[in-house]
Amino acid sequence: MTAPDIASNPPALRRRILVTSALPYANGQIHLGHLVEYIQTDIWVRTLRMHGHEVYYVGADDTHGTPVMLSAEKEGITPKALIERVGREHKRDFDSFLVSFDNYYSTDSDENRELCESIFLSLQAAGFIDAREIEQAYDPVKEMFLPDRFIKGQCPKCGAKDQYGDSCEVCGSTYQPTELINPYSAVSGATPVRRKSTHYFFRLSDVRCESFLRTWVSGLAQPEATNKMREWLGEKGEAKLADWDISRDAPYFGFEIPGASGKYFYVWLDAPVGYYASFKNLAARLGLDFEAWIRPGTETEQYHFIGKDILYFHTLFWPAMLEFSGHRTPTNVFAHGFLTVDGAKMSKSRGTFITAKSYVDTGLNPEWLRYYFAAKLNATMEDIDLNLEDFLARVNSDIVGKFVNIASRAAGFLVKRFDARVQDSAMHHPLLGMLREALPHIATHYEAREYGRAVRQTMELADAVNAYVDTAKPWDQAKDPANSVALHETVSVSIEAFRLLTIALKPVLPALAANVEAFLGIAPLTWADAGNVLSSARPINPYKHLMTRVDPAQIEALVAANRASLQPTDTTPPRQAASAAKTTVEAAKSGKGAKGGTVAAAAKSTESAEASFVSIDDFAKIDLRIARIVECKAVEGSDKLLQLTLDVGEEKTRNVFSGIKSAYRPEDLVGKLTVIVANLAPRKMKFGLSEGMVLAASAADEKAEPGLYILEPHSGAQPGMRVK
Ligand code: MSP
Ligand code: ZN
Repeated sequence: MTAPDIASNPPALRRRILVTSALPYANGQIHLGHLVEYIQTDIWVRTLRMHGHEVYYVGADDTHGTPVMLSAEKEGITPKALIERVGREHKRDFDSFLVSFDNYYSTDSDENRELCESIFLSLQAAGFIDAREIEQAYDPVKEMFLPDRFIKGQCPKCGAKDQYGDSCEVCGSTYQPTELINPYSAVSGATPVRRKSTHYFFRLSDVRCESFLRTWVSGLAQPEATNKMREWLGEKGEAKLADWDISRDAPYFGFEIPGASGKYFYVWLDAPVGYYASFKNLAARLGLDFEAWIRPGTETEQYHFIGKDILYFHTLFWPAMLEFSGHRTPTNVFAHGFLTVDGAKMSKSRGTFITAKSYVDTGLNPEWLRYYFAAKLNATMEDIDLNLEDFLARVNSDIVGKFVNIASRAAGFLVKRFDARVQDSAMHHPLLGMLREALPHIATHYEAREYGRAVRQTMELADAVNAYVDTAKPWDQAKDPANSVALHETVSVSIEAFRLLTIALKPVLPALAANVEAFLGIAPLTWADAGNVLSSARPINPYKHLMTRVDPAQIEALVAANRASLQPTDTTPPRQAASAAKTTVEAAKSGKGAKGGTVAAAAKSTESAEASFVSIDDFAKIDLRIARIVECKAVEGSDKLLQLTLDVGEEKTRNVFSGIKSAYRPEDLVGKLTVIVANLAPRKMKFGLSEGMVLAASAADEKAEPGLYILEPHSGAQPGMRVK
């Protein structure tokens, strides 16, 4: 497989592609959860642009609806003023994270109004719109109909107060708002009354819809999405799809429905149309034929990246709306999972989110997060976790330790000793051939949204390059002028390898790649540049720092800035102390050798925790103590744990659960001394309280032989002694 070259890309190979990310609500800030999606989409878009395709990536703020209307009112400003301000904030955040929208717009635009009206009228003409009278909760004081989430009351199951209209946060049961005991309006506090009103419905139950959607789902890229769709569609003829209520009564911030005064399009009707509105706005600016992109049978492609929570809207309503209003349908919809932070769910209502702005304000580099997300993302809808220690370790070890170090080690020699020019014959070194061959595969992984694989493969190549440098030992070659040609080869291969690795990382790290391009004095890299080589005709520039390491203090500052959102709960084990211990051990293990020893260690290791240091003060926070194992037994119902009773020189013994059952028989441990972390916060486990952690050495694969070894002090140590 060869990557198509931009300049010579024949028109037939040049795809025309429209890409979108979901439109964020205009009544909240962008947080790291959102960024999973925008970064995922951006990496994909950049991958395709690097092939030379004609790609347009559009977004917009989702501005309409009751929540925006009420937020504005609370702030004492108009909805328009609110969405204008939030729109600017969102754009600022996307820019900081290098999300390369070709257009960022608003659903509250003329283009959107016109498109919504025309789609609605087409659907109406085709017999897909019904008007029906329904009964709903109404706030008699505020004089408005109440969406479910604005009705609160007592849970009908457990009696808990102040619960929302759809589910109880205390007992977890779900119900109808009408079942709430003593319901009240969250807007005014008044008791809601029932009131009738005419609503417009999109007739999703129409047989034409069902049969269209049945065919359409079979083209979805993700089997999980297809399965969900089949569930929603039910068996053939089961008619499971309910008609969709697309209107809301005044007062409402949105577009009035043509021919229906006082009735507005429900926000979810106009939101996806906002994709087209943004693109239409862009098309007008660029002189593109918008109609040619959206008509049935067009050869252009259209992809929507979304979170799994809004699949329904994008795989049922949106394609059906398009199909029956005479438009093309999406080529595909790609759904991703949800972001958790240190294992816990983010929640706006509880304030447990890290905002994009707080990340940037803390001085953390947005490309670090792009890299971390890329390393974790794949084509499925699985959730992904941001573990802050893992984040630090991985960024430091991969980007700095493996990638950037290749250039920083080689550039000095090349510039000082060889007039900053590569050795042309070195450009055909077999190592470089291997890298060039791998690049199209990496590009394919990106396009298949298997970013984790792309990044892993790239880091394996970086490992190979580092191993090459470690074997050639340029720092030794440099000692003897007789080795000058060999040294020139080593550093030339390194720099060319660095160029090739930069191509592989460019979709993820575009700013870093731009700095590399400036450093090497080359034009913007594309996939086709795998087929080029650096030339002695053009000297490189002196090496300037390309990327710093994550400083643990920055992570601490980020956590502090979002403190409320990261409080450990009873069910979350306190990770801080435990992992700090791990980091200490790893740092001690990796040691800093002379002559690039650290880099070699980093390059060879598959685990990545060794790249950071802790201060002696941090280490002193961990209270390590000698413990005698007084009792030890298996834990019923657990095939991993042993339960230990430990004498730590205190008044009372401690109870500790330890995952060492695979390696020890309980009776063999009784009477032995070991080492524990004594000031780890007690952790409530299924089998009881664990009051400390036994230290053990383990192989990367604990099931492998040799597997697990607990620590044992030399004889003479006494229970309770401090280890430091
Ligand atoms: N306004 C709608 C989308 C309309 S699209 C025509 C919406 N907005 S949102 O602000 O709530 O979410 C925007 C996108 O971010 C959605 O795709 C959503 O799934 C995604 N995410 C929001 N929180 C997220 C996480 N915690 N993790 C991953 N994605 C998250 O939905
Ligand atoms: Zn309840």
